[in-house]
Amino acid sequence: GTGNRNRAGKRNKAAGPRWRHACHVLLYAPLPTGSPQPPFAILMQLRFDGLFGFPGGFVDLRKESLEAGLSRELREELGPAAAGIELRPCHHRGAKAWTGSGRKKSGSDVGRLSSEDQVGAEAQPGSGRKEQSGSDVGVVTHFYIRRVSLEELGEIERGEKEAPEHGLEVQGLIRVPLGGGLPTFLQQGFIGDARAQLLGALHDMGWDPPQDMGSRNPPHDM
Ligand code: APR
Ligand code: MG
Ligand code: MG
Repeated sequence: GTGNRNRAGKRNKAAGPRWRHACHVLLYAPLPTGSPQPPFAILMQLRFDGLFGFPGGFVDLRKESLEAGLSRELREELGPAAAGIELRPCHHRGAKAWTGSGRKKSGSDVGRLSSEDQVGAEAQPGSGRKEQSGSDVGVVTHFYIRRVSLEELGEIERGEKEAPEHGLEVQGLIRVPLGGGLPTFLQQGFIGDARAQLLGALHDMGWDPPQDMGSRNPPHDM
């Protein structure tokens, strides 16, 4: 760094933020109990890159908090029905700092950062690492979990085509198949940490997959 401690307000275009931040959220709704089906619905999306992931995206901490940026991304990717889904720091479940690119990308947990820790976009979770100068060197991904009502979930699903990013960043919303289809679903391609985030959330909800699914892409039986 240059030692310039000026924060938001006076922007140094040349330096720019060292770390970009992205926020994604697992939205789930309780389902009526009593049936053999799993007791909740979890929303994911098929992305433009063919991978499954959670709604959300890049946040500009010079202009918005993590939660405000996530809310903006939800309106873009899910549509106006998402406007009523308030996100708070208490929904934050973890953050991971990613360095490298392509297949060499690696992530490490950096805990439960709040937007207050990050305002000014100067925080550098990996400040001990070697950095290239002049450009972004990493992404910090923040994961949120938010319970919504089944009615709210249904409104989002019915309104998905109104989302500005429908057909662009987002090819479609899905409910995660939590019954017998879960093992097959987990063999799909997932962006970043989305698969692990899904499995972690399922574990916390007491819905662990019935068998070991450590193998990521086993061949399909014909
Ligand atoms: N876990 C970890 N990392 C993730 C996860 C996840 N669950 N989901 C996404 N990411 C990473 C991806 O690597 C992605 O590059 O966070 C980054 C930002 O998330 P996106 O949702 O892809 O960002 P968004 O702001 O919605 O879209 C940005 O990227 O390629 C372009 O055209 C595309 O306009 C889009 C832009
Ligand atoms: Mg987006
Ligand atoms: Mg996105």
